[in-house]
Amino acid sequence: MKLLLTVSISILLIFGCSKPPQNISNNSTETVLGTIGDSAMVASAHPIASQVGADIMKNGGNAFDAAIAVQFALAVVYPVAGNIGGGGFAVIRESNGNVASLDFREKAPKSASKDMYLDSEGNVIKGKSTIGRLACGVPGSVDGMFELHKKYGSMPMDQLIQPAIILADGGFPLTQNEASNLNRFQEEFKMQNNWDLPTMRESPWKEGETMFYKDLAVTLAIIRDFGKEGFYEGIVADQIVKDVQSGGGLITMDDLATYESKWREPLVGNYRNHKIISMPPPSSGGIALLQLLQGTEDYPIGTWGHNSAKAIHTMTELERRVYADRATYLGDPDFYDVPQEMLLSESYNEERFLDISAKSKTPSSEIKEGNVEMIESVETTHFSVVDVDGNSIAITTTLNGYFGNKVMVKGAGFFLNNEMDDFSAKPGVPNQFGLVGAEANAVAPEKRMLSSMTPTIVEKDGELLMVVGTPGGSTIITSVYQTILNVIDHEMTMQEAVNAEKFHHQWLPDLILIEENRFAENVVDDLTSMGHVIDVRKQLGKMDCILVHPDGTLEGGSDYTRGDNTSIGF
Ligand code: DON
Repeated sequence: MKLLLTVSISILLIFGCSKPPQNISNNSTETVLGTIGDSAMVASAHPIASQVGADIMKNGGNAFDAAIAVQFALAVVYPVAGNIGGGGFAVIRESNGNVASLDFREKAPKSASKDMYLDSEGNVIKGKSTIGRLACGVPGSVDGMFELHKKYGSMPMDQLIQPAIILADGGFPLTQNEASNLNRFQEEFKMQNNWDLPTMRESPWKEGETMFYKDLAVTLAIIRDFGKEGFYEGIVADQIVKDVQSGGGLITMDDLATYESKWREPLVGNYRNHKIISMPPPSSGGIALLQLLQGTEDYPIGTWGHNSAKAIHTMTELERRVYADRATYLGDPDFYDVPQEMLLSESYNEERFLDISAKSKTPSSEIKEGNVEMIESVETTHFSVVDVDGNSIAITTTLNGYFGNKVMVKGAGFFLNNEMDDFSAKPGVPNQFGLVGAEANAVAPEKRMLSSMTPTIVEKDGELLMVVGTPGGSTIITSVYQTILNVIDHEMTMQEAVNAEKFHHQWLPDLILIEENRFAENVVDDLTSMGHVIDVRKQLGKMDCILVHPDGTLEGGSDYTRGDNTSIGF
């Protein structure tokens, strides 16, 4: 089996096994289709990881086996965000329609405290929650993959980890994007580590060079042979604790040994006769997405035209209000009584969006959180998988920033997260994504930091329709929102929906971010005349999605225009 997977990975990398993205011309318009597969599909941030997942399913594994193998493979070939030192969320839909969601988000160490990122005058200390050892939460990914396997796996776990070990030990070719990511962070690698990381080099990394992660291969082999205890106890745990504590970090052996991922009731809502299944808190993604979709139902977005000024204005006004609610009311439900039912209720959202003007923007300074009755008490990556039986899984997983806190665990060879920055270090002070928060998302021992990750599955007439997700910090929610609208309201293919230009608003700062050089001048002028302030970003999102076509074939829509994202199916 091990040999078979190695051979299969290299052969299929050369020849491929499904129809690649294609343009279908008819008289007036050109349809852009993603990768087409007859019955199974993996869409991920890296072609090798997608191939690993497809191979697992070809060898009889289900979508959940494939997802586990992809998660471990991404930890090797896409260390900028793929990880075993971070965490994430999974939304699951079995072929029989049963749904579930798994929270393997990082947790604050037991000795974390509310003011740990403030100086003696109560000001946030810049960089303390983003770089270095104090920035890191207790990793959840390895536990998450074992939990997923326990409930849904069909192949032995060692066979799902083996492809990642082969890649780390035997090497793999760097893509241009990965080479430049490694080159970009050389200074940070040097500053945060006192040993020669495999990622460090005097001369620049180049596309096509073979990359090895020998220490990581050993760590993965320990996990393969000893199960999750191989990571959370014993030598690897010891390496994590020694490294983290050598630089003032808080993680202890006890923090690691007691980490547990959690099965949570997924959020289920409706949008124009589609069932939307998404992630509940501690991600804000599901609640925010369902609020946005509820607000959108009142508007004929499809007839207004994709990214017309009217559509962008209306969606922005919805986003402004939803992100204000996010900042106040959302946090880890194990620590804070999130008013989930209220935020998702029709009556609340009707009232919430009532003051949206069709003609001009409402300045964010005039928008406060909605009136919710409180019961007293407070560089990511996404991949989608569908298997031959119609089981599906959406996983978004992260180290937070590029290469997390830039600390590679000495001897163990993987990067740690800087997820503690997703807490609100101080009410009203923005984090690295410009997001503000309050008590609901304050740091506390063993609490999970609020996330924007939005792995989502869409059903139509009781059948699987779409698996959706993306990285992008605070912009994840709005990219998922637009992608769903692109397919449902604007009738795009999966690939067109992914490729389409994206925009974003998050209440504060009061700006619409748009992708550079991709929006028509007259649209920008119209938005400006309604009072909106526009700012540009090079790119927003890197979606990896799957759409089921009416004939039952699968279309993988992977963002090859913004990254190395690749769908592989058969
Ligand atoms: O959980 C969150 O919302 C963030 N840590 C996600 C970070 C992210 O997407 C970075 N990637 N671009």
